[in-house]
Amino acid sequence: MFASRKVFAAKATTSLASAVCEHLGQPLGHADIMKFKNDNKFVQIKESVRASDVFVIQTSCPPVDDNLMELLLMIDALRRASAERITAVLPYYPYARSDKKDQPRIPITARLVADLLTTAGADRVVTIDLHSAQIGGFFSIPLDHLTATKLFCKYIESKHLSSPVVVACDAGGAKNAVKFARGIGAPLAIMEKERLGNSDTVEVTAFIGDVRGRQAIIFEDEISSGGTIVGAVKELRQHGAQEIYVCATHGVFCADAFDRLSRIGVEEIITTDSVPHDREALPSVFKQISIAPLLADAICRIHNGDSVSDLFHY
Ligand code: R5P
Repeated sequence: MFASRKVFAAKATTSLASAVCEHLGQPLGHADIMKFKNDNKFVQIKESVRASDVFVIQTSCPPVDDNLMELLLMIDALRRASAERITAVLPYYPYARSDKKDQPRIPITARLVADLLTTAGADRVVTIDLHSAQIGGFFSIPLDHLTATKLFCKYIESKHLSSPVVVACDAGGAKNAVKFARGIGAPLAIMEKERLGNSDTVEVTAFIGDVRGRQAIIFEDEISSGGTIVGAVKELRQHGAQEIYVCATHGVFCADAFDRLSRIGVEEIITTDSVPHDREALPSVFKQISIAPLLADAICRIHNGDSVSDLFHY
């Protein structure tokens, strides 16, 4: 038995965490997070967590390394403050795309992050739509891998599109796109792409499927520079798609991605709030679905010892 359930947030995720706490009907835990003049971070948990079931939420967004360090410090502080169990909740997993050694002499940073979280003292991890599910295997502690697919299904179904077709931008994303396509009862088209080195320029090298006269819905785990989406939209136009929607769980939108994507003439670009952006400031083509109810539900189930797998299905 735990003394209580507590939820804390590192700085980058305060707004999402507050929404999660609203759904849970409990206040967000108090913590002081600041930086000394020598650039060292300082964290202090401002309430007792002894024997508590603690959830600490931090997403990955710029400054990525700073935010990751903040999470590690919070976990360490919670462990030293005698929390009974610590669950790191990472809506967008840091360095998720660095999950394999596909070039000579490079690190597998997603694996290193898993080791860092475990060493800091996390007992379990919750995350959403990993770039590849195999990242779960980097952990020797339990990891609950949630998905926002159901939320996207509901959103797209509410549009009552006459002949939708789901589009995967590469073979790696096809498995998830199939699940989404099944969820909305639509066929699938698949592209294969090539990224020029580590750059933002992406070329489509193959295309299978029929999108002519249909509403194409690109389904992705994340949008970073927007290069993949720009390449995919160009290809879909050449193949005669009538309308184009984009669904991606993590709207990273780095560099000039907002500007670049505002000008490609798609109907909507729908992401979740796993990466914080000022919703009011977004051009109207960008829509945001909140994952706060999903995270709150997962936290509730984990705390009560109930099944979380219901949240994986749609
Ligand atoms: C890569 O395989 C992912 O699924 C996304 O396609 C990629 O992260 C998008 O990155 P960008 O927006 O920079 O093309």
